[in-house]
Amino acid sequence: MIHRSWMRSQGFGPEVFDGRPVIGIATSASELAPCNVHLDRVADAVKRGVWQAGGLPLAFPTMATGETLMRPTAMLYRNLMAMEVEELIRANPLDGVVLLSGCDKTTPAMLMGAASVDLPAVMVTGGPMLNGKFRGQDVGSGTHVWKFEEELKAGRMSEEECFFAEGCMARSNGHCMTMGTASTMACLAEALGMQLPGSAAWPAVDARRFETAQAAGRRVVAMVAEDLRPSAILTREAFENAIRVNAAIGGSTNAIVHLLALAGRAGVPLDMADFDELGRIVPTLVDLMPSGRFLMEDFCYAGGVPVVLRRLIEAGLLHRDAVTVTGRTVADEAAAADCWNDEVITSIDAPFQPPGTGTAVLTGNLAPEGAVLKQSAASAELLTHTGPALVFDTAEDYHRVADDPELDVTPATVLVIRGAGPKGYPGMPEVANVPVPAKLLKEGVTDLVRVCDGRMSGTGYGTVVLHVSPESVAGGPLALVRTGDLITLDTPARSLTLHVPDEELAARRTAWTAPESPYRSGYTWLYREHVLQAHVGADFDFLRGKRGSGVPRDSH
Ligand code: FES
Ligand code: MG
Repeated sequence: MIHRSWMRSQGFGPEVFDGRPVIGIATSASELAPCNVHLDRVADAVKRGVWQAGGLPLAFPTMATGETLMRPTAMLYRNLMAMEVEELIRANPLDGVVLLSGCDKTTPAMLMGAASVDLPAVMVTGGPMLNGKFRGQDVGSGTHVWKFEEELKAGRMSEEECFFAEGCMARSNGHCMTMGTASTMACLAEALGMQLPGSAAWPAVDARRFETAQAAGRRVVAMVAEDLRPSAILTREAFENAIRVNAAIGGSTNAIVHLLALAGRAGVPLDMADFDELGRIVPTLVDLMPSGRFLMEDFCYAGGVPVVLRRLIEAGLLHRDAVTVTGRTVADEAAAADCWNDEVITSIDAPFQPPGTGTAVLTGNLAPEGAVLKQSAASAELLTHTGPALVFDTAEDYHRVADDPELDVTPATVLVIRGAGPKGYPGMPEVANVPVPAKLLKEGVTDLVRVCDGRMSGTGYGTVVLHVSPESVAGGPLALVRTGDLITLDTPARSLTLHVPDEELAARRTAWTAPESPYRSGYTWLYREHVLQAHVGADFDFLRGKRGSGVPRDSH
């Protein structure tokens, strides 16, 4: 009676309490997360589908980690959101759940939470914005922020023009429409089998976004009857497929951190080396910014993820039998996918970029647990490079001098930015692709090697070595580098080397003391105490694994 009576205050008649599946709709709509703001309308479409299939839909809000407004970084809150999603699903009497996400971190957070509860779950991402259009040109979220900033600094664009351009870039609901982290994670949610085929790419404002949401609502009701749970979908095979798809779409480096964290929830063994080994033989098929020319709207009209899946399957690059939320296999779902634009989604034989040019995983005495480099966003001539380090303990320290015409920097310099790891910042922000010093920009230099324990926006570019693990604040060798030390980046050999003798490093280590945490209480304290390093996904140590949907005791 307690369950029913209070629910009836919403106007439900007694007939809905007939044992039909109760479907939670987790919506991360928020005016503080503009990429997700339309998700309540997507939730309405999901509800229609749930009713059609004989379920009872109940939407509930979750927090939203909006990439653009949250400080110090939305990544600091991914684990908090994942924890909230997990607890809300478990604590309420739900039989299945539809996960509505959009902005970068919201997709992995929801998948992580749902994987730990392991009730039937379907994801519906909110879809990308329409292509940005500025003076007859396509402009991409994020990617063009960096470009405009450089144009402004180089004096080729006025502040007024920049101000006008920002409205041209974000001109509809939706998440970033470059192949940044949000689009990447949406595509990978589909590649993993967690969202309906084809649904990653529909623009947020496309009627078919709402059609696919409705279909997801219908489907989750059937999944409850079939008892099809994330644990049957998020298998090692599914993760291998996702890694290969990430390579084929030229996806964000952030996907590495998120997939590692999700695999940790699902109990699937996965490590940094898997990304290099599995991705290395996959050509980049999708020609999207930031690495290429097009944007998500074009990708959608070309056929979207199913075309990529089909091409990889036909080349023998995917596990055909991985099960998706439809209950059918990846191969079944992709078999009929047609490509409508071979320039946007290129073929295996004439790919946008050949195999081996995707994201490389580097190791060496500067990154014993690994680091990553997005080759497609880097400059070819810097992929093998030796130069003297110019070290900054914080990104802010660098920003203070980045415009200094006297800065002691040459095109050979390796900029080291540390203190940006999970514990260090805290939250492992997207600060690694610090701008090229103004002095070099004026000389026409547009790129130089940067090494950082933080991340880079999925829409960013440059020869930037990211996710150096262990991070400096945790005592990784990055903490021991001094200005003037020689560093070699050898991407073909997958190595990152600090040319300082072991004895000297040992001496520096003895002299080094771990910076004390400035946090004594609150969430940031919890985060810093429990966050794991980037090479295992930067999840909390106590959140790895599945805890199931069982609730031990009743409330009244
Ligand atoms: Fe939200 Fe890019 S800022 S997806
Ligand atoms: Mg981002």
